[in-house]
Amino acid sequence: MNDALHWNNIADNYDKEIFNVFQNDKKKKLKKYIRKYANKKNTAIDFGCGVGKALPLLSPLFKEIIGVDVSKKCIAIAKSSPYKNVAFREADLAAKKINLPFVDFAFCCNVAMSDDIKRNYRIIQNVLSTLNKGGVALFVLPSLESASLAAWSLISWYEREGVDLADIPKDDLAQLHVGDHRQILDGVVMIDRVPTKHYQVAELYALFNSGNFVLQKLDRLEYGWNTEFESPPRWMQAPYPWDWVVEAKRVK
Ligand SMILES: C[S@@+](CC[C@H](N)C(=O)[O-])C[C@H]1O[C@@H](n2cnc3c(N)ncnc32)[C@H](O)[C@@H]1O
Repeated sequence: MNDALHWNNIADNYDKEIFNVFQNDKKKKLKKYIRKYANKKNTAIDFGCGVGKALPLLSPLFKEIIGVDVSKKCIAIAKSSPYKNVAFREADLAAKKINLPFVDFAFCCNVAMSDDIKRNYRIIQNVLSTLNKGGVALFVLPSLESASLAAWSLISWYEREGVDLADIPKDDLAQLHVGDHRQILDGVVMIDRVPTKHYQVAELYALFNSGNFVLQKLDRLEYGWNTEFESPPRWMQAPYPWDWVVEAKRVK
């Protein structure tokens, strides 16, 4: 299924089906990162804007926001938000070329995460390519280390209750179900049974420290354990599950 079809199908049930990063960001770090680059004289682009969850953060801090998404239906919902300084563009960010203006700040939250690695990498390159020299792109990306921590925590939970790995119900281990060897190597792990690209530290450094760009900062966006498990036990505390926040800068 192509990205447009997939996301158009989800649009009507978006709130139920799609994880809300902004609501679950435990330390409200995204707000701080975006504020760092706020400029009322500048335009910012929200790449893969979805139904517009980032608009309450972005819209008051910039002159104009361009929300770009491959899904007509998501854009239609985003258009109903009350922000006046937002324009929308329908585009496939994995296309060979995208036609967008250069900006000093780009935001791309949980977009480059399909099981097609080449398309994910193209999305990232396309986002970076819109930056002016000195401009910064903020990416939120699933973490392979966090997925591994969640699996380990689940197994520990069962162990504490006297259940061996072999006896854990298959459904509970669903997020460990990776397809073939290729997917394991590519960092593709299930989220709610959807094969989802997860990134690891070495990969991120290689990906973003290249060409005209540097990885300026890598941070964790932490969530509660209730975002991984229904009724997690009290002993399950830090380290919490997380997505990566990548701050990438165009230096040349
Ligand atoms: C998980 S949602 C995240 C939406 C939003 N960034 C947020 O954090 O609420 C992923 C979004 O990326 C969009 N998307 C996925 N692949 C895309 C592509 N190739 N080009 C443009 N948008 C894409 C989807 O339509 C969807 O709205």
